[in-house]
Parts: sequence; structure tokens; C-alpha cells
Amino acid sequence: MLKIENLTISANKKIILKDFNIEIKDKEICAIMGSNGAGKSTICKALLNDPNYKIDKGKIYYNDKLINDYPTEERAKLGFFLLNQTPIAISGVTNSEMLRLALSTKTNEAVDILKFHKELKEICQKLKIPKEFIHRDINSGMSGGERKKNELMHLWMLKPNFLILDEIDSGLDVDSFKIVLSSIKEYYEKYKPSILIVTHNTKVFKYLKPHTINILQNGKISKTGDISLAKTIDESGFETFKISENEVYE
Ligand SMILES: Nc1ncnc2c1ncn2[C@@H]1O[C@H](COP(=O)(O)OP(=O)(O)OP(=O)(O)O)[C@@H](O)[C@H]1O
Ligand SMILES: [Mg+2]
Repeated sequence: MLKIENLTISANKKIILKDFNIEIKDKEICAIMGSNGAGKSTICKALLNDPNYKIDKGKIYYNDKLINDYPTEERAKLGFFLLNQTPIAISGVTNSEMLRLALSTKTNEAVDILKFHKELKEICQKLKIPKEFIHRDINSGMSGGERKKNELMHLWMLKPNFLILDEIDSGLDVDSFKIVLSSIKEYYEKYKPSILIVTHNTKVFKYLKPHTINILQNGKISKTGDISLAKTIDESGFETFKISENEVYE
């Protein structure tokens, strides 16, 4: 279980999250919604310890362990997996090279190459991406939608237990949207990870039905509710839940 207590995060001396609290239980699907610039991607990146985001105050616990000082690779070993809003390209490292190394690091065992390639090919087929992607540099020269599917290849191979999906739907055409969301739904049903979803698009919830929806405003959660909150947001926007800065910062 993830527990964040009174977290204050800043980047370039700008405070983005202020006394932010949330709990995400095992197997829980938790959504965070909020206006552009509210700090949603900041939460996602802070969870993976992006060095651009500094913890000024507060605590992050995972399964009762304080992980504030855990570097990104240690958090990945714990099972954290971030699907970025805009996945970056890494030239000079292929998908298969990275995945082989990541898998052997995670399991402390040599990877069975035949089994590894068979699994990768099956995943490409399922995601409807060319199997040549296996030997392409990570996200390099790939379109926005292709990058999202390419990162799903990593998801299926690494089998993480805490998924962070930052705007998973952005840049996907209607067909890719169905493929990507169905694939994550299938992953959830098979492995039952915890999932943090950040999205503006409530159609995502048709595939991944959140147990809670949280609204982020002025650096903290201003409202928590069930799936019915999505309808209110679609109809009335975030204004309905506005809280004054004083309520937040005092
Ligand atoms: N490295 C940084 N340096 C300075 N300011 C930053 C940095 N990263 C984020 N910010 C600022 O913090 C605020 C929150 O950014 P963030 O990307 O978390 O928003 P978001 O809620 O994900 O928005 P969107 O819905 O548009 O994706 C923005 O005002 C952004 O400009
Ligand atoms: Mg964002």
C-alpha cells in the first residue's frame, strides 16, 4: 500500500504540492483529476524520484517502508512503473537490451533468451505493434501513440505491481485507445496491481473503473468521491470544487 503524508514538493523553487495526502491500497484503482498545471504529473514524477522535484517536507511510505530517499531504480525494484505523459526517447539503447537488463536485475537470474523473445513477440502481436520494435531504440523515432504502446511492452515484460498512468490516453487514436486501455484492463485483471490514473478523459474509466476519484487543487486533494464524481466534472468542470487558497495554505 502507498501512503503519502503531508508532502510538499517544489521544482526550481516553485512549490507545486503543499501538504498533499493520499492512500492507495493494494489492488486499488485511484484516479487524480484536476486542471492543467494543478500538479498531477508532478505527483507521478515525484513517486519515481525525478531529481527535478524536491521533497521539502512529508513522507512517502510503500508497504510501511519510508521510501523518501529511495533512488528511482530502488523504487522500480519495489514494483513502481510510470507510464509518462510524454515518454522520452533513449537513443542507443534498444527495448530488448533494456528489458533484458531490467529483468535480470529484478530477478537476480540470467534471462532465458528464447522464452524472452517469444514473450516479446506475443506482446507485440497483442498490442498490434511491429515486432521490429523489439530491436528499436527506446521510443526513438516513434510517434506519440507508438511510444505509449512501446511502454506497454515494458509493462507486460516487467510485471510491476504499482502502475502510474499519466494521461495514458493522450495522443492515441480511437483504435489505439481501445487497444491500450483493453491491454491495461487485462493486465489489471491478471495481476491485480494498484493503479494511479491521472487523466482528463473520463472515457478511460470505462476500462479502468476507479475505486476513488480525487480532485487536485491548490497543491492538495480538495475532494474525494466515487465514480459519480466523473459525471459532475464532465458537466460542471472543476470550478464546483474550488477551495480558497487560505483553506489550503494556512
Ligand atoms: N521542473 C519544473 N520547474 C518549474 N516549474 C515546474 C516544473 N515542473 C512543473 N512545474 C510547474 O508546476 C505546475 C504543475 O505542473 P504539472 O506538470 O505537474 O501539471 P499537471 O497537473 O500535470 O498539468 P497537465 O494537466 O497540463 O498535464 C505547473 O505550473 C508547471 O509549470
Ligand atoms: Mg500533466
